[in-house]
Amino acid sequence: VTHTLPYRWYTDPEILLREQERVFARAWQYAGPAADVAEPGSYLAARSADVPLVVTRARDGVLRAFVNVCRHRGHVLTDGRGQRDTIQCPYHAWTYELDGSLRTAPRSEREQSFEPDGLGLVPASVAVWGPFVFVHRDAAAPTLDETLGELPAILGRIVDVDRLRFHSRAEYALSANWKIAVENFLECYHCSVAHRSFSAQVDVQADAYVLEPHATFASQHCHTRGDPSSQGQFHLVYPGLKLNVYPGPANLSIGPVFPDGPERTTGLLDYFFGDDVEAAWIEELLELDAEVGREDTALVESVHRGVRSGALPDGRLLLESERLIHEFQRWVERAVTG
Ligand code: FES
Ligand SMILES: [Fe+2]
Repeated sequence: VTHTLPYRWYTDPEILLREQERVFARAWQYAGPAADVAEPGSYLAARSADVPLVVTRARDGVLRAFVNVCRHRGHVLTDGRGQRDTIQCPYHAWTYELDGSLRTAPRSEREQSFEPDGLGLVPASVAVWGPFVFVHRDAAAPTLDETLGELPAILGRIVDVDRLRFHSRAEYALSANWKIAVENFLECYHCSVAHRSFSAQVDVQADAYVLEPHATFASQHCHTRGDPSSQGQFHLVYPGLKLNVYPGPANLSIGPVFPDGPERTTGLLDYFFGDDVEAAWIEELLELDAEVGREDTALVESVHRGVRSGALPDGRLLLESERLIHEFQRWVERAVTG
């Protein structure tokens, strides 16, 4: 066994600040289904931890991303998704083209010097993989491929992402530090104890459930009880992007967890399914996943209360069954202190 990160790291605002600057600010984030911005004249709001971003497809057909903050006095421009030709700020109606340029600013003609050319939206980066759009707050970001590495190939062994269609989004909030939520996701040591329905379907024994660390992500491989050919995968792309494929017909859920203060975490999961997957099976999977989610919420909120009590300096990790947590904690530690 080894020690966990110091428990102080789960409540200290200074640590969160460094995580925001050094971890989340440098990460590609899942933004939403690519189908939402397939048509010229469409947009999709997203975020990179605390930074609001917006993905657009202008009439010229080019996919772009911008910081979703008005150049006037900082109002967030838009949320959700939709079809339109411009983005208008709700505060004083400055209006931007979907290519980011400032089209109109009411009363600007009364100003001595007003240069709309320098007041376009601040560019960010955007990339598409299969049916998924990703954003990065930095216009000069490294490529998404560098982050994903072998992940698309590994997923491709069990699901063809190009055949998946968006089904629905689930959103959640947790009274816990984001790392506690991620660490809970990275082991199935607790599955047989805390997830009865899940463990009735998935073989969660140590020898059947495979943990596989990679440079930029951590993978878990599993299969249906009694049927090794029916395979699932659960991945975490550092720092907080989950990708889940349950054993069974073509399915995948994808979504980030974000810190919302040191002691609160928000997240979402977009569910995708193959065209031919039966509605009844989809409903069963969504219900099972919701049940697992409720069980995990109770677990991580209890862990957060224990950790924040200050009664203990740290905890212990099993280097076999919790090796992905150990890798994740070392990755966070390098990023925060390096
Ligand atoms: S803040 Fe956007 S128009 Fe004033
Ligand atoms: Fe769990």
